[in-house]
Amino acid sequence: MSWLPQQGETVVAPSLLAADFSNLKQELQKLAEAGADIFHLDIMDGHFVPNITMGPFIIKAIRKSTDLFLDAHLMISRPDLYIDRFIDSGVDAITVHVECDCQIDAVLKQIRSHGKQAGISLKPGTAIEEIIPYLSEVDLVLVMSVEPGFGGQSFDRSAVDKIAELHRLRSENDWNYVISVDGGINADTGNDCVKAGADILISGSWLINSDNMPERMSKLASLK
Ligand code: DX5
Ligand code: ZN
Repeated sequence: MSWLPQQGETVVAPSLLAADFSNLKQELQKLAEAGADIFHLDIMDGHFVPNITMGPFIIKAIRKSTDLFLDAHLMISRPDLYIDRFIDSGVDAITVHVECDCQIDAVLKQIRSHGKQAGISLKPGTAIEEIIPYLSEVDLVLVMSVEPGFGGQSFDRSAVDKIAELHRLRSENDWNYVISVDGGINADTGNDCVKAGADILISGSWLINSDNMPERMSKLASLK
């Protein structure tokens, strides 16, 4: 299945933050065999968020190990300075935060000029109005349902209303973005998000740190 949601299907994107990096290749294989559609890569710079994860160097290794679609979620203050390096690392989509310290429309253009998908994300405390000016030019909207920075946090319900609003705005304006949600996703919270209009569910700890990962993957994928 492609990263673009088909009618009536939910795309599942495991967040690799929860994966075992000492066994990365096998982890990617297991997740792909279980039905993952996308790999969600959480990039943190220790400045935009109080945590540091991976950069283009690690993504290159991930790219070598899988053919699946790679979405880089940039939780970094200055994405504009690093877009070219992330593109070179082999990602398919780059999502930037509206709260970052750069010109959003310019950075979205920069991503799209390389023929890659461009996404915009917003934190739980950021109002939807902040991203409205960019909605006509993005391929993806990433609604944060936890404060960015760490996996394993609990779901913030403000995300459900935002998803519903984004769904309404998309049909009213004939916009084309896909709606994804990130943070605290399990079968219950995922169900609420899909009902509200989410196309892509990103899940880290609940999905990956589980003895029955394939079953959980199918559960998320079957939500309608
Ligand atoms: C948080 C990240 C999320 C998160 C998902 O900053 O963007 O992708 O790690 O992990 P869970 O599903 O454990 O909340
Ligand atoms: Zn993320």
